Amino acid sequence: FKIAVLISGGGTNLQSIIDNIENGYLENCAIEMIISDREGAYGLERGKKSGIKTYCVDRKKHKGNLSEEILKIVDGKVDLIVLAGYLSILKGDIIKKFKNKIINIHPSLIPAFCGNDMYGIKVHERALEYGVKVSGCTVHFVDEGTDTGSIIIQKTVPVYVEDTPEELQKRVLVQEHKALSEAIKLISQGKISIK
Ligand code: GRF
Repeated sequence: FKIAVLISGGGTNLQSIIDNIENGYLENCAIEMIISDREGAYGLERGKKSGIKTYCVDRKKHKGNLSEEILKIVDGKVDLIVLAGYLSILKGDIIKKFKNKIINIHPSLIPAFCGNDMYGIKVHERALEYGVKVSGCTVHFVDEGTDTGSIIIQKTVPVYVEDTPEELQKRVLVQEHKALSEAIKLISQGKISIK
């Protein structure tokens, strides 16, 4: 089961997939390529260390045709595209060609705290501002909207009043790593269908 992983930053979610392939949890899966939308993303280093093909399609150089460039790389080569800390918006043909074959991990319980400007630490700042008692993460299919596709898996964490955004992010990230590989496993086994 061939996977492309799209990243923009540190790639701890990517690393969790690499580790779960190596330890056999994702037994029939392989990462065919890693694509970053910005130079210097540490996730690219993680890929190189694991001997995985990496590409950088710089979002500034490819303003307006970023999704098309990425489609050229993945088209016909993978069964699933995983957005793992990927901060650009995928749009156009790639969404249609890979309908229900693109998943994203978001660090909140969608529909709470999602949308174009909601990523990274900001999601946790908003959750704390709002005073939620429970937060978590969501793995969902990617459609034309932002964080609006069918939900596959959600995992929750408790939120404490004295939490800093960093502490909450760290707690959620542990669950993200589990949720992402669980979703990939289910999809690779053909166990996910959209009602
Ligand atoms: C994390 O906040 C994660 O929730 C979101 O992107 C951020 C970076 O993740 N998906 P990673 O460490 O680059 O995988």
